[in-house]
Amino acid sequence: MPPSPALVVTLDRRSARPLGTQLADQVRARITSASLAAGTRLPSSRALAADLGVARSVTEQAYAQLVAEGWLEGRHGSGTFVSAAPPLASTPPTRRTAPAEPGLLRLSTGTPWIDPRHAALWRRAWREVSTARPPAGYDDPRGLPALRAALAERLAHVRGVVCDPDEVLLTAGTTDGLRHALGALPAGPVAVEDPGYRAAAVTVAATGRGVRDVPALEVPDLAGTVAAYVTPAHQHPLGRTMPAAHRVALLASARRAGAVVIEDDYDSELRYDVAPVPALAGLDRERVVYLGTASKSVAPSMRLGWLVAPAGIRERIAHQRAITHDSPPWPVQRALLALLRDGYVDKVVRSARRVYADRAGRVVDALAPYGELTGPVAGMYATFVMPREQALAAHEAGRAAGYDVPLLADQCRTHVRHGLVVGFGGSLDDGQLDHALAVLARALRG
Ligand SMILES: Cc1ncc(COP(=O)(O)O)c(C=O)c1O
Repeated sequence: MPPSPALVVTLDRRSARPLGTQLADQVRARITSASLAAGTRLPSSRALAADLGVARSVTEQAYAQLVAEGWLEGRHGSGTFVSAAPPLASTPPTRRTAPAEPGLLRLSTGTPWIDPRHAALWRRAWREVSTARPPAGYDDPRGLPALRAALAERLAHVRGVVCDPDEVLLTAGTTDGLRHALGALPAGPVAVEDPGYRAAAVTVAATGRGVRDVPALEVPDLAGTVAAYVTPAHQHPLGRTMPAAHRVALLASARRAGAVVIEDDYDSELRYDVAPVPALAGLDRERVVYLGTASKSVAPSMRLGWLVAPAGIRERIAHQRAITHDSPPWPVQRALLALLRDGYVDKVVRSARRVYADRAGRVVDALAPYGELTGPVAGMYATFVMPREQALAAHEAGRAAGYDVPLLADQCRTHVRHGLVVGFGGSLDDGQLDHALAVLARALRG
């Protein structure tokens, strides 16, 4: 076992970035640059806090963050160790349809809760749009330059993706971003997580490419594919955070195959136990096409997202768009710019985290006795694996009481697992959630 190294870090006490976050950043950077080897034991949080002259909560928070990201692991009674190897140098049909059945309230995994208290900022943004002058002709095909600059700044700050505004392209949401990325890739099949996001598999198939189902919890062999679509921050719908070792191995597999990794980073800011886990794109900008969306932090109906891709892919998309004028509507882009600038998005994310943390606790209390929770609850859903009969019984009881609770099996293609995917976002209020949980728990007890 490599010995416990003296951890030399420099913390800037005047920086707005919390000390725990600075510490986590520096330890993560050591691991990814291979200066801290896998298996290395780190100093205890108490010893490190004493060394650095900070409160123990600072070192504990940094370690907890890196454990959640999979870079470190706590071994009971023997300390905290580096768990991941560093990065190397350089069919989709499903049995049911997604929309809620008429008359049923769907416990949707993707409908956000948007704090109504920020309505004044929302109105202000749209007033501003109404008085601004739209561009006279077709604008920059990559999107509004000021918005691309605001997004680049935000991506570096909250997702660890350091990029230039010129590298950001506006899209009409994740699916549109995926379609654009696929349009810029050579012919060939695409690996898609299974279980996974139905819209992604359908989008890949609609381009005429083969969908290669890869078990979501395993590192895929990407030989023979041109891309892998993944959701590392919050693997949909199992809810797991892709462990650091899996991330590293996935990138290595993509490099060997000459494939790219398409990272769908849909709800990553909505972590409430630890800070959001940094994006995969932060580890390898040359191999990862990053897709972000306004659907969780503003509204799905905005149909707005962003894409950061390696240069060749980005240029092919921009070139195609310059010819087709296929970019998101200017008024929506302009509104998002105002919403970002005025702090609306940050406020919505902060409020939503509080509400989801509370609702997640209620969901886990009600259902954990009956199924295996498949990941840290994050975003606006929790997934429980359980025997098929139990899942079906709960699903049917939900329907009888007016709730459509998604079945995990409906989001599986080849690798079928059974359970419930319980959404607790804005499609229902607290009272409805509690009622639905009571109905499910009663059915599961029975
Ligand atoms: C896995 C996943 N990706 C992306 C999205 C958002 O897609 P879009 O940006 O197209 O609204 C969702 C919404 O529920 C999702 O579940």
